[in-house]
Amino acid sequence: MTSPKFLIVAIDGGAASGKSSTARALAERFHLLHADTGSYYRALTAELLHRGVKQTDAAAVRAELADLRLGTQIVGHSADIKIHGDKVREADIRSAAVNAAVSHFAALPGVRAALLPYQRGLADEARAGGFRGLVMEGRDIGSVIFPYADLRFFLHADPAERTNRRVREGQADAVAERDRLDSSRENAPFVCPTGAIELDSTHLPLEEVVERLARLITARLLGG
Ligand code: DC
Repeated sequence: MTSPKFLIVAIDGGAASGKSSTARALAERFHLLHADTGSYYRALTAELLHRGVKQTDAAAVRAELADLRLGTQIVGHSADIKIHGDKVREADIRSAAVNAAVSHFAALPGVRAALLPYQRGLADEARAGGFRGLVMEGRDIGSVIFPYADLRFFLHADPAERTNRRVREGQADAVAERDRLDSSRENAPFVCPTGAIELDSTHLPLEEVVERLARLITARLLGG
């Protein structure tokens, strides 16, 4: 008997485009490991801010990252990042200060280089943990991290609707400005990868977005 296919699903999209909720639901439905890579960039940003490192000082960022030990704690279907053995607190990575700084730190090649092997390595963690695959969401998953993923999705949503989503969550977050910074950086810019399956979630309820992606995942699992 051949073992079931291990599936890699990439989901990219702008701030508050619905990636995380969608990826979380798909992870549970198909028993995939869920990697929210935005939370990894946020964790590094919170750590660097805590150490007093400025986003304009690329050399200091590199120096601080050189001895940073990253690990993973799997909680349910979620691959949560650990820094020096400690889990990073949600409250620390969703603060207004991190919202404002994360795109600046994420533009630095040193920060991206620190996270690239970590993110790719999560496929092995998923296999070792008995998951059927990995669903990874972010800005450069289908373009840089897993360009050969089995399925690559890109979620669009109107910026005004995305800002409202953050307001409803009680967060101060300049989503359009983050998108602008993320799209204009030189290193692994936020783009819709060529060949990705695009979906506009502006007027769709989350359940419908999940259903549409789930149908395509099922087809792929059945060999389509
Ligand atoms: O998904 P999020 O909004 O929590 O992501 C926070 C920031 O992290 C985003 O503005 C840019 C950066 N990021 C990135 O550069 N590459 C990724 N793959 C994921 C996030």
